Amino acid sequence: MGKQSRLEKKKQAKKKPLMASQADRHQLYQKSVQDTDVELGLMVEKYRDIRGREPLSFREDFCGTALLSVAWCRDTPTRTAQGVDLCADTLAWGREHNVEPAGKKVAARVELVNGDVLKVNKPKVDITCALNFSYNVFKTRDLLRRYFKSVRKGLNDDGVLMLDIFGGTEAITSTREKRKVEGEPFTFIWEQEKYNPVTNEILCHINFKFKDGSRLEPAFTYDWRLWTIPEVHELLLEAGFSKVHVYWEEYRDDEDDEGYLVASGDYIEVSEVENQESWVSYIFAEV
Ligand SMILES: C[S@@+](CC[C@H](N)C(=O)[O-])C[C@H]1O[C@@H](n2cnc3c(N)ncnc32)[C@H](O)[C@@H]1O
Repeated sequence: MGKQSRLEKKKQAKKKPLMASQADRHQLYQKSVQDTDVELGLMVEKYRDIRGREPLSFREDFCGTALLSVAWCRDTPTRTAQGVDLCADTLAWGREHNVEPAGKKVAARVELVNGDVLKVNKPKVDITCALNFSYNVFKTRDLLRRYFKSVRKGLNDDGVLMLDIFGGTEAITSTREKRKVEGEPFTFIWEQEKYNPVTNEILCHINFKFKDGSRLEPAFTYDWRLWTIPEVHELLLEAGFSKVHVYWEEYRDDEDDEGYLVASGDYIEVSEVENQESWVSYIFAEV
C-alpha cells in the first residue's frame, strides 16, 4: 500500500464515528444484563413450588424497557403484564423496541404505566417482581417497608413477590468488573465507585467499552443502599407478607476441571450458607 493511500485510510478512520457515539444504551443494557429465559424460568418454577399453580398476571416494577413483561406475555397467550417505571423516555423506548415489535396480540396484553412503584398497585396480580436490585433506590427502612406494603396490596390472595439481591465480600469494595458479552463488539463493566459503611450506601455505574477503544462511561448510574438479606426479610414480614423464602445458587463439580466447582444455575432454598466474594440470590415473599 502506497504512502498516499495509508494517509487516506488514516483520515477516513478519523472521520468514522466512534462506536460509543453510535450505541444505544438501552440496547446494550438489555444485551448484557437481562436474560428473560432465566428470570422467567425461575419466577414460574418457584411460584409453582410455593402455590402449586401457574401464575398468569404479572407486574414488573422498575420495568425500564419492559423486556421482561413482553417476554412474559409472548410465552403464553393467557398471560398479562403491567410494567411500571418513573421514566417516560425509557418506557417510550420499550414500547417502540420491545412491545410493538412483539405484535398486536402480545402488545394488547402489556400495559405500561408511567408512575411510581410506591403508588401503582392496581389491578391485583399473581406475581410482582423488582429485579436488577432496583428497590435499592429506597434508602430507609420506612421507604422500603412502604414499597413492600404497596406491592402486597397489589397482589392476589395467593400472590408472590420476587426480588433479587446481591452481596459478598466484594460488594463492599471499590471494584471494576469486566465481562465480554458473547458475540457483541463491546465489554460490559460493572463499577462500584464508592461504598459507605456508615450508611451502607453504594454508588455504582454500568460502563461499556467498544472494540474501537471508545467508551460509554457511565451509561447508567445507581445511587443505592445495599440492603442485606435479613433486613429485606424483616421488612417483608413487617409489611405483612406471611412467609419469606431465600434461594441460593447451587454449585456442582466441574466436569472438565476436577476439584473445582461451577455455578449450576439451580437455586435452592437455604437458611445458612458460606459467604462468597460475590453472590446474587433471590427472595420470594408470600402474601
Ligand atoms: C436498574 S433499572 C431496572 C430495569 C429493569 N427492571 C431490569 O430488570 O433490568 C431501574 C429502573 O427503575 C426506575 N425507577 C427508579 N425509581 C422508581 C420508582 N420509584 N418507581 C418506578 N420506577 C422507578 C428507573 O427509571 C429505571 O428505569
